[in-house]
Amino acid sequence: MPAIVVLGAQWGDEGKGKATDLLATSDPIDFVVRTSGGHNAGHTIVVDGEKFATHLLPSGILTPGATSVIGNGVVVSPEALFAELDALLERGVEIGGLVVSANAHVIASYHSTIDKVTERFLGKNQIGTTGRGIGPAYADKISRVGIRVADLFDEGILRQKVEAALDVRNQLLAKVYNRRAVSVDAVVAELLSYVERLRPLVADTSLLLNNALDEGRTVLFEGAQATMLDVDHGTYPFVTSSSPVAGGVCTGAGVGPTRIDRVIGVAKAYTTRVGSGPFPTELFDEDGANLQRIGGEIGVSTGRTRRCGWYDAVVARYSARVNGLTEFFLTKLDVLGSWERIPVCVGYEIDGVRVEEMPMTQTEFHHARPLYEFFDGWGSDISGCRSFEDLPKNAQVYVKALEEMSGAPFWAVGVGPGREETVVLR
Ligand code: GDP
Ligand code: IMO
Ligand code: MG
Repeated sequence: MPAIVVLGAQWGDEGKGKATDLLATSDPIDFVVRTSGGHNAGHTIVVDGEKFATHLLPSGILTPGATSVIGNGVVVSPEALFAELDALLERGVEIGGLVVSANAHVIASYHSTIDKVTERFLGKNQIGTTGRGIGPAYADKISRVGIRVADLFDEGILRQKVEAALDVRNQLLAKVYNRRAVSVDAVVAELLSYVERLRPLVADTSLLLNNALDEGRTVLFEGAQATMLDVDHGTYPFVTSSSPVAGGVCTGAGVGPTRIDRVIGVAKAYTTRVGSGPFPTELFDEDGANLQRIGGEIGVSTGRTRRCGWYDAVVARYSARVNGLTEFFLTKLDVLGSWERIPVCVGYEIDGVRVEEMPMTQTEFHHARPLYEFFDGWGSDISGCRSFEDLPKNAQVYVKALEEMSGAPFWAVGVGPGREETVVLR
């Protein structure tokens, strides 16, 4: 199975880091690749009780023998990249190879300035972004005034491109947002300061990965963000500015869809979301507070409390469909150990009509009321379970029911944050 995609099937933070780590340690993986997003991601890995978090780097950076790749679809803040690398090196982590696409777009400090200013101007309509400059960097890319990693290696070209980018941005900053304009010299100097460290890492990553696949080597594409945050398929406009769905892997890495063998959607046994936007199963009561507390639902990148709700099978089926999932990894089943009765959303009521698929319009989704089926809880700690048969009967029933309604078979179930705290089903 040489090419595997791991992606978020809900609103992010499903446990993609753990899934990547699990796959990378159970079978030798040659390359772990990020293909979209930037340092807005926060992926946690727990190895022998020690916790690591990666943001821009794929969590495969911690896998011995694997080369990490930052694909062309990623937006790269050189400052964040080296800060993250240095922090890992300081902890004494042995880091494998790292390759950055020459075509990846660069996030400079003005992108995060614009991100924050824009959010402030949106007021009550704000997206709740991570403030890392992700949206403005992708906007520049699509507007064709972005700066790519390769541009940093030619000072003349870099200056021209920064001038073109700031031409528009400075007008906005000064005239609309009432802020000070950004100096071209300062941005050029900022970006040039990373050139020496960056140069040896940069390559044509599409060629590298296609050659690797031709040689039968194993490539793991580690998704960031999630299906419901996808700029096309998510809850627009409350989304990120990239394509975290399976299709985005192909454009974000420069590999064709025919090369992908497995597409694993990671989903929690309940649901969380950070930032604004619709969330039909969101809980505002004690159950929500308990999911948040027991699940430790606090953002890895921003420290924000995650909104919590029950599992939503409509979202799961939608994810299975738009990503062509071959399987799911269900995480955090252990968190549900203290409930007597666990609701699962099996459909929505929208303006008096029962629907079982994601509605066509955002307005309908905003009006969606969850319809629940109820399952008996198991009331015990399952973190020691290592096989399906080890799970209490009611937990088995819950997993099987979710599998039946989610649109793709379940590959494994997480019963704790540690790599070994997993029940592999098939
Ligand atoms: P990612 O962004 O998808 O990689 O997920 P995050 O790292 O942001 O959030 C997932 C959190 O759940 C992390 O703290 C993980 O250590 C933790 N986690 C992952 N799988 C499990 C599981 O099966 N059980 C429990 N209790 N925690 C888990
Ligand atoms: P991982 O990879 C959860 C959310 C933000 C905000 C919206 C837009 O750890 O699952 P952005 O800064 O991307 O423009 O913010 O997307 N968001 C995430 N939520 N997990 C993430 O990453 C996220 N990355 C972005 O909270 O609502
Ligand atoms: Mg996360």
